[in-house]
Amino acid sequence: MTESKKLFIKTYGCQMNVYDSERMGDAMGASGYETVDSPEAADMILLNTCHIREKAAEKVYSELGRYKGLKADNPDLKIGVAGCVAQAEGEEIIRRQPMVDVVVGPQAYHRLPDMLAKVKNGGHAIDTDFPEEDKFTKLPRGPKAKRAPSAFLTVQEGCDKFCAFCVVPYTRGAEVSRPPERLLAEARDLIERGVAEINLLGQNVNAYEAEGWSLARLIREMAKLDGLERIRFTTSHPNDMGDDLIEAFGEVEKLMPYLHLPVQSGSDKVLKAMNRKHTAESYLKVLERIRAARPDIALSGDFIVGFPGEEEADFQATLDLCKEVRYAAAYSFKYSPRPGTPAADRSHVDEAVKGERLQRLQTLLTEHQWDFQQSMVGKTLPVLLERAGRDEGQMMGKSPFLHAVHLQADAAMAGQIKNVKILHSERNSLAGELVD
Ligand code: 5AD
Ligand code: SF4
Repeated sequence: MTESKKLFIKTYGCQMNVYDSERMGDAMGASGYETVDSPEAADMILLNTCHIREKAAEKVYSELGRYKGLKADNPDLKIGVAGCVAQAEGEEIIRRQPMVDVVVGPQAYHRLPDMLAKVKNGGHAIDTDFPEEDKFTKLPRGPKAKRAPSAFLTVQEGCDKFCAFCVVPYTRGAEVSRPPERLLAEARDLIERGVAEINLLGQNVNAYEAEGWSLARLIREMAKLDGLERIRFTTSHPNDMGDDLIEAFGEVEKLMPYLHLPVQSGSDKVLKAMNRKHTAESYLKVLERIRAARPDIALSGDFIVGFPGEEEADFQATLDLCKEVRYAAAYSFKYSPRPGTPAADRSHVDEAVKGERLQRLQTLLTEHQWDFQQSMVGKTLPVLLERAGRDEGQMMGKSPFLHAVHLQADAAMAGQIKNVKILHSERNSLAGELVD
């Protein structure tokens, strides 16, 4: 028997990249690679990259720089760049960093084993096609290995919205939804491997539509699967929050009371310049309908500060919107011009102003997040126990509202949902104890 080769995958960016990295691991597994935890131990290093902001993209090049010594020591080491930087920059990556052997975009990674065979004796392979075939069905399945209790499942990919700041429609392509029967089969497979919670992923997940099925219908059918206890979905667009999906929050017990619904800005002028196709008011109306269906829902959002044309009054409107919504969690960023997007060539807000606004916004958002966490203290919540914690005898779990919860529990309880009394709130987590 030949010794198996070693693959190290480093993942940047969103949850979809986490899912994709697992699938790439599967694809390479079928070609005799086993995954390892360090680049030093690897015969192949794969960076699964993110292009959403400049900082994310630049990280790739500094990481590649670190591998120079490894490649010098081992000329047989193969280095691949996958994901959204690969899609956006293609050949440019090899021009900047010639030791890269393979560049593969997010729609072509099922071809990775063939590409590797091509570069076995030197040369480069680049594939940034958007092929007709469904990459997920082309991927060989790994053996039925046990999985962690919470898993991602990509149901939709790509985006047709073209927000003026965003690279996703270019790197991930047009919206494509996967057929429902395949998703139900994949969900069943995950359950057999010990998964109790599935997080349905899509860049515009609530625009899911395949064979006449909406996301709400998919959720309702998935909820019927025995052994599956919790369903979540992310990321949604305010304009695709249909009535049936909102109703599901009130009716489907397994659908968790947490919704990530980015608004980006509270100013209608900025929203228009961003090509968001909604106003602050229409967004708030959507939230009102959701809260009517599920009063305890925890909301989270994304914000961009310093978008071209944003003035102090516009920024104030964002603060006002946050005060009205009181998000349970939020992610906020300074606007980062991305090559090829419509806003990149506009006149930019001063970096210092962006920094100062980001700080003010984050102070407010952190205050709201803290208040929400604090409101959990004294309550008993059903917590999905997921993995061992840092300390002896400790376990980490997740509340329905996506809080990390740590408590004393036996590691053998992983995968179970237990009632946990919340004792106190820490910076980014809750501490609790098992009830009875
Ligand atoms: N600059 C800053 N933030 C961005 N996002 C997307 N594109 C940019 C950009 N060019 C943010 C948005 C989006 C999240 C995933 O990343 O808030 O919702
Ligand atoms: Fe990007 Fe806008 Fe599409 Fe979200 S909806 S992925 S922000 S273009």
